[in-house]
Amino acid sequence: MSNDKYQLSNLTTGKTSDLETLSGTVGPDVINISSLWRDHGVFTFDPGFMATASTASRITFIDGDAGTLLYRGYPIEQLAAQSHFLEVSYLLLKGELPDAAELDSFTHSITRHTMLNAALLRLYGGFHHDAHPMAMVAAILASLAAFYHDTTNIHDDRHREIFSHRMIAKIPTIAAAAYKHTVGQPFIYPRNDLDYCSNMLHMFFAVPCESYTVDPLHAKALDLLFILHADHEQNASTATVRLAGSTGCNPYAAISAGVSALWGPAHGGANEAVLDMLEKIGDVSHVPEFLTRVKDKAGSVRLMGFGHRVYKNFDPRATIIREMCHQVLAKLGQANNPLFELALRLEESALKDDYFISRKLYPNIDFYSGIIYLALGIPRSMFTVMFAIARSAGWVAHWYEMIADPEWKIARPRQLYTGAVKRDYVPVKKC
Ligand code: ACO
Repeated sequence: MSNDKYQLSNLTTGKTSDLETLSGTVGPDVINISSLWRDHGVFTFDPGFMATASTASRITFIDGDAGTLLYRGYPIEQLAAQSHFLEVSYLLLKGELPDAAELDSFTHSITRHTMLNAALLRLYGGFHHDAHPMAMVAAILASLAAFYHDTTNIHDDRHREIFSHRMIAKIPTIAAAAYKHTVGQPFIYPRNDLDYCSNMLHMFFAVPCESYTVDPLHAKALDLLFILHADHEQNASTATVRLAGSTGCNPYAAISAGVSALWGPAHGGANEAVLDMLEKIGDVSHVPEFLTRVKDKAGSVRLMGFGHRVYKNFDPRATIIREMCHQVLAKLGQANNPLFELALRLEESALKDDYFISRKLYPNIDFYSGIIYLALGIPRSMFTVMFAIARSAGWVAHWYEMIADPEWKIARPRQLYTGAVKRDYVPVKKC
């Protein structure tokens, strides 16, 4: 706790209260306003949580002005260069890096929870072939709550651990089954001899009639993308998982809610929207005209993949991914990929433009992630699903942190009511 005190005075009643400030280990202090309603009968008003910390957390720290991202204190650049997705998942969940035995045991557990109940697989048949995979993934995750209803006691630490392992293990299988459904191919079972990302590519691209060899470069690129997307503190989907989970609901249902929140183009759906935008722009010669449309306040066109609620400087993940885009495309023989060229020119022009400079709008992770996914052969409608697979590690870690907190309580925001005041009902026949 810091020594700073903020005093709130009501000039009409003369009533004052001291509001204490709380300090984290790093980052700005927060003012504890939880006594406001009790002492003053008022709420605070902060639509979109512009200045409101909804929880305390020990998992991820972002300094948006400095462009810093830490998972459990470790810089994202170091994890991206030296770690891998399952180790990062362990770190997010447990708070510390694993030793060799702990990592083995975790990897073993994740690998052996990848299968889906055969009855669950039949649910995919109820979807039309062109159903969006995010809708299927959200629905199938919600259905897991039915499969693991009686066996998931959120107050039992072992049950919580099994849930977290199942979640990270099964979401690639669920995603791959959604993909196979959309392309009309048979479901491909997971392979326990493959690492996490290789297995995912195998389930996506193998077919029963011929052998399929995973390209290690593809698996490595995917693993890096997963590390970068694994957590991002109280973003909209994570906050949704926490809010839904705060009711004590089945945790698979809470994760399903998070998937739905992630789908929006202002959040995880941005990677799909970036590709749509690049294709609509079509050619570098159209960049100036497109940026003019973006800057026109009478219109509603946004430069997708630009801007972030927290980063008012470069998103460190975008810097890593931009570099990786160069490497991956070069190794795949796509160094002159026209979409990448277009993205680079668009970024260059926007970063020189006063509209974006004055608003501190920089490329975010999703400006480039779609280009890599596309180069890996992942179809556009699956981009946000890829994000969901990676973010499942963060969602589970946040759910776990919230549920294990002795001060856990249901999240119940208040409102500023602006609707009609009390009035009497008039039956329709008298109107
Ligand atoms: N293109 C053009 N203008 C933008 C953009 C953009 N991408 N982003 C913000 N602005 C402008 C707004 O019009 C506003 O201008 P004004 O002050 O003249 O009214 C100003 O910048 C502030 O924008 P807000 O929408 O208030 O910022 P907010 O923090 O609420 O939104 C968001 C952040 C949603 C990410 C926004 O920047 C955006 O829509 N970006 C495009 C979508 C995107 O890439 N989303 C992915 C985010 S990263 C992730 O979820 C993984």
